[in-house]
Amino acid sequence: MEIRKVGILGAGTMGGGIVHVVAQAGFQVVILDISDSLVNEAISRIEKSLSKSVEKGKIPLQEKDQILKRIKPTIRIEDLRDAELIIEAVVEDLKSKLDLFRRLNDLCPSETIVASNTSTLSITRMAATVSPSERFLGLHFFNPVPAMRLVEVIPGLQTSSEIVDTCMDFAKRIKKIPIKAQDCPGFLVNRIFMPYAGEAMLAAQEGATRPEEIDKTVKQNGFPMGPLALNDMVGIDVGVHTFPILNEAYGERFPVPLLFERLFHAGRLGVKSGKGIYANGKADDEFFEIIRKIQDETGIKNTEFSVERLILRQVNEAIYCLQEKIATADDIDRAMVLGTGFPCDGKGVGGPLHWADEKGLDWVLDKLNYFKDTLGPRFWPHPLLKQYVAAGYLGKKVKKGFFQY
Ligand code: 3HC
Repeated sequence: MEIRKVGILGAGTMGGGIVHVVAQAGFQVVILDISDSLVNEAISRIEKSLSKSVEKGKIPLQEKDQILKRIKPTIRIEDLRDAELIIEAVVEDLKSKLDLFRRLNDLCPSETIVASNTSTLSITRMAATVSPSERFLGLHFFNPVPAMRLVEVIPGLQTSSEIVDTCMDFAKRIKKIPIKAQDCPGFLVNRIFMPYAGEAMLAAQEGATRPEEIDKTVKQNGFPMGPLALNDMVGIDVGVHTFPILNEAYGERFPVPLLFERLFHAGRLGVKSGKGIYANGKADDEFFEIIRKIQDETGIKNTEFSVERLILRQVNEAIYCLQEKIATADDIDRAMVLGTGFPCDGKGVGGPLHWADEKGLDWVLDKLNYFKDTLGPRFWPHPLLKQYVAAGYLGKKVKKGFFQY
């Protein structure tokens, strides 16, 4: 099927970003939300971002105008009827999403491709609301959408291979790099990224060190930004919605940091509300009052901070994904580089599994055991890691680990 017109449901940070890249690639786009003001705010964010590209000389002024002309704002779902592809990017609430998919099912022709940009919810479950279900899949983008190259393509149990191929091709046409991942809570990247982002929140709420120090140390280790600044950019509300879903799915390996909920209730949603972990670029008195209360409640404070504490949560979850065949070792690492800027060499080779090979898998196993004993069972090393170490697969130093050298 040829895709010419794309409908985007939801004009928030992600919806707006998706509209931007799809319109910039030459497609007609309809953007829908529940009020004119929400849709118009998204369009003015896109306009601002395009103006920056004009200023930098990346696109001529006329192109900015043409891109904006391709975007049609609406609050009427009927305006999506003739789109060949519809991408849902509304709040991470299963019931709201299922209601929308049922309405789309009644409204659109049976060949319309329906995709969800969900971070964590089951594609297979959502696919069951449209008929035929084979035209439903996950297309998961990363924030900020115009800057991050990755799109995860997630087939549900029912998705046809033709629809997957069409959407892999669509992702390339909007200048993204698609990587296929199996349907599981968090899919590939969020499943590996969120333990790291959550561990940074735990370290902050425990007062392991100051938030600024956590972010600075991570950046000194080659990451493009610190995990706390990233949580503020993605949105504290997103954490409030997604962490309990992952905790429900995976149990104690994914504890929910109390800090998300406490910031949320204090109206600190991150960049979108003006303050989150940071206010004007630094942690303020209100933040320290919030973590003091959490420490009184949990009795956990002044724990150890090191960058390994954060990265090893990624490594261990990457091993789970490898063994569950969520993706290949190559794709796991490539996805983490393209979707989150995990440090890599000049050829783009890097990622949590390469990081582990570089450090030595025996060292990784020892460190995970140490953190399991000192910080808790969320660090329990995956059994596959023990098998690798026992078999002499110790990483780069012996030329074999998760990769061959
Ligand atoms: N909107 C549009 N474009 C943006 C942008 C934004 N908000 N922020 C940055 N960019 C673009 C810039 O225009 C610039 O483009 P150019 O190279 O073509 O000029 C490019 O990104 C680099 O930006 P900057 O030079 O201003 O700044 P940095 O080099 O510091 O990069 C960053 C900024 C791209 C955000 C980088 O810090 C980064 O990669 N951070 C990691 C982001 C990440 O991990 N995202 C994934 C989060 S998880 C997620 O989204 C999943 C969801 O389900 C929760």
